[in-house]
Amino acid sequence: MKLHRIGALRATVAALGLMIVGTACTDEKIVFQDRELFNPPPDSIAGFLGYFDETEKVTTCGNCHVGVQASWENTAHADAWATLEGSGHSQVFCEGCHTVSELGNFVSEAAGHNLVSDTSYFDVQCESCHGPGLAHVENPDAGQPLPSILVDSLNGCGECHSGTHHPFAEEWSQSAHAEPAGFVISHAAGDPEDECLNCHTAQGALDAWGVEPEFLEATAAVDDYAGITCAVCHDPHGSAFEGQLRYPIDVPEQATNLCMKCHYKRAQPDLESSTLRGPHSPEGPLLLGESVGWIPPSFEPLADRIVGSHGSEGNERTCAACHVSSFEVNDDETGDFLFNSTGHLFLAIPCVDAQGIPTTDQTCNLPDRQFSGCTTSGCHLGADAARTAYTTALNRIAALVAEVDSLILLAPAGERDSRDGVFTVADGAWFNARLGELPGTSTHNPFFAEQVLVASIKALRAEYGLSAPATRVSLDLEL
Ligand code: HEC
Ligand code: HEC
Ligand code: HEC
Ligand code: HEC
Ligand code: HEC
Ligand code: HEC
Ligand code: HEC
Ligand code: HEC
Repeated sequence: MKLHRIGALRATVAALGLMIVGTACTDEKIVFQDRELFNPPPDSIAGFLGYFDETEKVTTCGNCHVGVQASWENTAHADAWATLEGSGHSQVFCEGCHTVSELGNFVSEAAGHNLVSDTSYFDVQCESCHGPGLAHVENPDAGQPLPSILVDSLNGCGECHSGTHHPFAEEWSQSAHAEPAGFVISHAAGDPEDECLNCHTAQGALDAWGVEPEFLEATAAVDDYAGITCAVCHDPHGSAFEGQLRYPIDVPEQATNLCMKCHYKRAQPDLESSTLRGPHSPEGPLLLGESVGWIPPSFEPLADRIVGSHGSEGNERTCAACHVSSFEVNDDETGDFLFNSTGHLFLAIPCVDAQGIPTTDQTCNLPDRQFSGCTTSGCHLGADAARTAYTTALNRIAALVAEVDSLILLAPAGERDSRDGVFTVADGAWFNARLGELPGTSTHNPFFAEQVLVASIKALRAEYGLSAPATRVSLDLEL
């Protein structure tokens, strides 16, 4: 089908030059219509075509790529010029990011609207990201303008989504999503099929999610694969979900929720593995209270799921409620604008300086962490109340983890991680302790953590005949 379509197009273009007459062929993505397909580019040097029909917002590219055109039309990008003008603060230097220009693509000299201020360049159109299309529309088989999925100052989303008012690129660059762990890249040893890449790299994730590999870095060597870039989470052409996300953030289901699509590996011990390993990104299942932790034989939870309040309907934006929380910082005295955090550090409780601006170093203690994300949804009365709730849960769970670990030491030698094909109570309890000690567990699902750790303590005692607590747990829990 695809080859036939291309063949037909090539023949038509060759026969009719710039005018295509008759419907050469149609599929759901590309349509050829009997009208001129492009106007001469106002910036003839770079070859940016811009709108074909600006009142109807039909991009030149959209003449053929009708599916993408239809979806793009509903994005904020398609209204970027009106937003700028409507702000009442428009100045010449604002325009490059709100129009088709050299920003967002591989062109490096002033081009498009920044060279020729023509109305056909209004809004963030296809060519903003894909680059100039003249060569491609003259011969669709060649010169296909491929976009970049990277976030750098030369190309891609970051060229516009940066700066004091919306430092998405700057914050993202400091986040754990920015670089794939070196260990993962060396684990893959050049093999693009390696399963670790599916969650740890942009190329791997887009491939796993069925996105066509039509971008500049699709053919990169595995060693150069990118981290979880903007275009992994956001669909550049728009989507049915808020914020142009590829998957929703407000559905509490592992198979559907954007964050849980990656944050779900090994939430339960892998009984088949030859080495006992702790949890690996268990946050999704933990938040939902489903398929998580080692369930001791004696453990009879009241329901088959133990959901903490953060995994309930009350927290509509699930993970993003805490981890993608934007806030503005203003000067306490003058009220002047200081900083806008986009929430793209992905940190629930970021370290902030005295003014409240997130710091580059993120190793501070709890008092210097910002808990305002916990209050925006109206759940906690104030940041201090949230900090206290967090600290209390953290301490209770830490005490239970310590109890589990000291009981494991009292278990007969060889019971823990003996890996003779037998999964022991000590192994299970050890897994639960590792789950309990993750800093987020006390927020993701403290109820589950406490119950499963108490049950682990009981199971260790019963299994190995340990009568007294190894250490005193000063908690009002029935042990
Ligand atoms: C005259 C019709 C036409 C116009 C106008 C057009 N394209 Fe295409 N485009 C095609 C066809 C046909 C293909 C498939 C060619 C192939 O696979 O060899 C294609 C392929 C592509 C591809 C590669 C991905 C794929 O689906 O095969 C990209 C990216 C692309 N076009 C972007 C653009 C952009 C951006 C513009 C506007 C600057 C544009 N196109 C304008 C017809 C067109
Ligand atoms: C040429 C500059 C430019 C480039 C390149 C660009 N954007 Fe944008 N983007 C904007 C502007 C300007 C707006 C605001 C439009 C408005 O509100 O009218 C915007 C809005 C958005 C929004 C919607 C925000 C909202 O408030 O609804 C998302 C999501 C977005 N961009 C994501 C991306 C992603 C992902 C990329 C890269 C694949 C990208 N953008 C590339 C300029 C750009
Ligand atoms: C570096 C690129 C860039 C420049 C320069 C720029 N903008 Fe934007 N503008 C953006 C992006 C990206 C967004 C979308 C931000 C978001 O969704 O948070 C945006 C959004 C907006 C919005 C929508 C409301 C908001 O803040 O989200 C207004 C209004 C706006 N810009 C006005 C302006 C004005 C006025 C200027 C010049 C003083 C300007 N922009 C300069 C990139 C830019
Ligand atoms: C905000 C940046 C951005 C804008 C605006 C944009 N694209 Fe894309 N486009 C991308 C990126 C990044 C990819 C590769 C990732 C993907 O396919 O989701 C892509 C992929 C494509 C592809 C190949 C895969 C597919 O979906 O068929 C085509 C064709 C395409 N774009 C055409 C267009 C057209 C036509 C428009 C305008 C109506 C447009 N794009 C607007 C960034 C953008
Ligand atoms: C289902 C998705 C998924 C798969 C598959 C996956 N990981 Fe991960 N991995 C994650 C997520 C999400 C995190 C971050 C979780 C966290 O910090 O709790 C992570 C964290 C890690 C870390 C810790 C990173 C750091 O900087 O501390 C390492 C190392 C790691 N993974 C290695 C691997 C290796 C090796 C493989 C393949 C054998 C792999 N992962 C497969 C999702 C996955
Ligand atoms: C790990 C996933 C992820 C990555 C990576 C990511 N974002 Fe986001 N982004 C989100 C989520 C989640 C939201 C919040 C959407 C909501 O609340 O509706 C968001 C919101 C936004 C918004 C505001 C949308 C709106 O409707 O207000 C913009 C603009 C944006 N992101 C741009 C970017 C850019 C640019 C990058 C790369 C530098 C990027 N994002 C990387 C997940 C991501
Ligand atoms: C495509 C897979 C993928 C998606 C989607 C994804 N993540 Fe991640 N995330 C990862 C990986 C992989 C890491 C670990 C990176 C590393 O350390 O090497 C990570 C790291 C993190 C971290 C830092 C953990 C730490 O130990 O510092 C947080 C927080 C996080 N992600 C939250 C989110 C949230 C919230 C969402 C949804 C908005 C999300 N992630 C979506 C793969 C993903
Ligand atoms: C109610 C707020 C909240 C929600 C909802 C939430 N988190 Fe967290 N998360 C936290 C806090 C607080 C931490 C501890 C942060 C720290 O120590 O820096 C954390 C830590 C993390 C970490 C670091 C590793 C760990 O487990 O401690 C990752 C990764 C993470 N969260 C991902 C997610 C994902 C994915 C979701 C959704 C399934 C989610 N979070 C939901 C508040 C939340």
